[in-house]
Amino acid sequence: MQTLYVELGDRRYPIFIGSHLNPQQLLEPYIHGQQVMIVTNTTVQPLYLDHYVAALEKLGKKVAVCVLPDGEQYKNIEHLTLIFDALLEAGFNRDCTVLALGGGVIGDMAGFAAACFQRGVYFIQVPTTLLSQVDSSVGGKTGINHPLGKNMIGAFQQPQVVLADMAQLKSLPARELSAGLAEVIKYALLADIEFLVWLEEHMEGLVAGDSALLAEAVYRSCAHKARIVANDEKEQGERALLNLGHTFGHAIESYMGYGVWLHGEAVATGMVMAADLSQRMGWISAADLERTKKIIQRANLPVACPKIPLEEFLAYMSHDKKVLNGQLRLVLMKQLGQAILTKDFDVELMTQTILANQN
Ligand code: NAD
Ligand code: GLY
Repeated sequence: MQTLYVELGDRRYPIFIGSHLNPQQLLEPYIHGQQVMIVTNTTVQPLYLDHYVAALEKLGKKVAVCVLPDGEQYKNIEHLTLIFDALLEAGFNRDCTVLALGGGVIGDMAGFAAACFQRGVYFIQVPTTLLSQVDSSVGGKTGINHPLGKNMIGAFQQPQVVLADMAQLKSLPARELSAGLAEVIKYALLADIEFLVWLEEHMEGLVAGDSALLAEAVYRSCAHKARIVANDEKEQGERALLNLGHTFGHAIESYMGYGVWLHGEAVATGMVMAADLSQRMGWISAADLERTKKIIQRANLPVACPKIPLEEFLAYMSHDKKVLNGQLRLVLMKQLGQAILTKDFDVELMTQTILANQN
């Protein structure tokens, strides 16, 4: 097992990464009260719930469970309410813990519920998808979607601990594993050219689900995320770089309808668009753009989106949280492995990029 820490002063917390981790032993120091609400979904429940209920009951905790329907389309205010209902029906109070057992959808919703319930209760992340292990479970961003935009309503709520168990990725469908690899590739493109070389060496093994390679990818990804979050928890600067590909990607995801394109798939094509615009701006070479596309394709991810009317694409982009004083800012690549947040891009070139990367 490897351990990383997100260094946030007295809110410092560990990320445990390994295979067949022992939740009873690893979670015990991080559960402060006696009540634990496990939030999961109908897909993860039959796979892993019993294991966690048993571990928590052995610790003498009162365990309640809230099982949500599975899907990005349920990451909304109506289904968030079901978590509050479950907490109130169980009679849980302010020293309870909400434990997210699932992918990023469950993590974001459970975390937001933890941030709101009685103005904030303890929160634990047990991410069960690659995407949630490398990204969404770390850093405390939680929230829900609105029909007009992704993740528009939410809060920062750091977990007490993150438990990333590679053994749980064995049941993950191949398409979901690839979606997680999009966020892994993101770290390489935005900050770590050596990691890109490593991914180029090992992509076949990662796609095949090799646990040792996945553990290494999760560790290297989380190391970047932990460092960036520690520097800029509330996204005043550097943390925005983690949104490489996301402004384009959120437009694709929102236009297609939540759940039609996976978040990671949309981010993958969004990163190709960011690279394409960076190349049009003269910052990266045509060879760098091809290298970006190639690694994304080798992860079985899409490099172009279906035709989306330009006005609609731009309208969705304008809802981005990085818009400042009405001005869109994009994360682009100054060079491969070095992202920047900038408002200084050519809007005409951006339009060309969007049109050029549609099927
Ligand atoms: P997800 O939560 O929808 O999970 C993907 C699918 O895998 C679901 O069907 C789920 O039930 C299933 N699943 C989960 N674990 C499984 C397992 N071990 N075996 C078999 N099936 C399993 O999607 P995701 O890709 O994990 O997360 C995407 C979400 O995360 C999006 O809503 C996105 O906005 C959010 N996100 C948040 C952050 C953040 O910082 N908070 C960062 C990135 C993404
Ligand atoms: N996934 C982007 C962030 O956590 O900031």
